Amino acid sequence: MFLNGSLCCLARLFLIVGIFNVVSAVIKGNTDYQHYQQQIPADHFSKDFYRPDSKNGLLISYTRFKPVTDCMFVTSEPGSFIYTSKTDDEEVCGIYFLAGPDQKVEINFITFDVPCEHHGLVSVVDGWELNGEVFPSEIDHRLPFKQRSSEFCGKNIGVKRTFTSSQNVAVVRYRIPIPGKGFTLFVKFVKNPRPCNVLAVSISEPYTLRNYGRRINCTYVALYPSTVRVIALGVGVSNFLGSVRTSETGTLRKCDETSPQDQVIIGGSYGLDTSKVQIVDSICGIDSKPDYREIVEYGVTSVRLVSSGSFENSVTVQVQQLKNELLDGNLSV
Ligand SMILES: *[C@@H]1O[C@H](CO)[C@@H](O)[C@H](O)[C@H]1NC(C)=O
Repeated sequence: MFLNGSLCCLARLFLIVGIFNVVSAVIKGNTDYQHYQQQIPADHFSKDFYRPDSKNGLLISYTRFKPVTDCMFVTSEPGSFIYTSKTDDEEVCGIYFLAGPDQKVEINFITFDVPCEHHGLVSVVDGWELNGEVFPSEIDHRLPFKQRSSEFCGKNIGVKRTFTSSQNVAVVRYRIPIPGKGFTLFVKFVKNPRPCNVLAVSISEPYTLRNYGRRINCTYVALYPSTVRVIALGVGVSNFLGSVRTSETGTLRKCDETSPQDQVIIGGSYGLDTSKVQIVDSICGIDSKPDYREIVEYGVTSVRLVSSGSFENSVTVQVQQLKNELLDGNLSV
């Protein structure tokens, strides 16, 4: 992971100052930046980027490119993006894409001119990476980390490839220490028919994790401390003879001891790596009207559905942002 060095500082910024800003930027949809039109050499673009100019019948190439302004640029909108380096700084920056829970991120470079000199490099990561920590964590992703990141530099490299993430988040990280060099990309959010790992987009809307009958572990992550409310629970339990129970059992606790194959682990961590989770509770059972709430006082909240493949598991949770009363109290003094 070549970008680790500089990423430490980015991450610190994110984790100490930025979480609420990032989440609020995410919620606002990052619409504060100015849209503007940019003239680009015509030969770089496919037909989709041309619009007929009715006046003189010529094709004029233009599109609305959103300029990447901040080093840590978070966006929940698809579209076209342009980054042009302004400095010879070797700082590592990133464009963090956040799609809807049932979407994947599809990234295409339209133009690419990132000389390899002076450590110029771009990497596309299937997930979000900060401080060397990645979401989804390695244990919950179908691919080992090496296969989830592509790094390249040069001219027009990567232009013909389509990068599609496995979940609703992806990041394009870059280090381009040559002024005037950069790239443009086109990003689409595409349907994910069976979402597994998801980064929360909303601070209040409920979300349902499902295994679709698979032997798979899926994590839902929110970048804030929270109250986790369970709205519906259907996580398979067997009785002592091994037969499947389908009637209401109520919400069972301490399932990491009694039913480790199929359970919901509620916990928190300080970074994006949810395999470093501190378990707050683990539940299982069938309960259509659970009365369950648990507070997670960590910067990152995670709800992990562990499935053996023997059951159709699902859990609906509402992960509400915890108001930090202590902090508010301190600030008003
Ligand atoms: C899911 O997680 C459990 C415990 O955390 C582990 O034992 C199991 O192997 C995992 N399953 C998959 C498919 O990774």
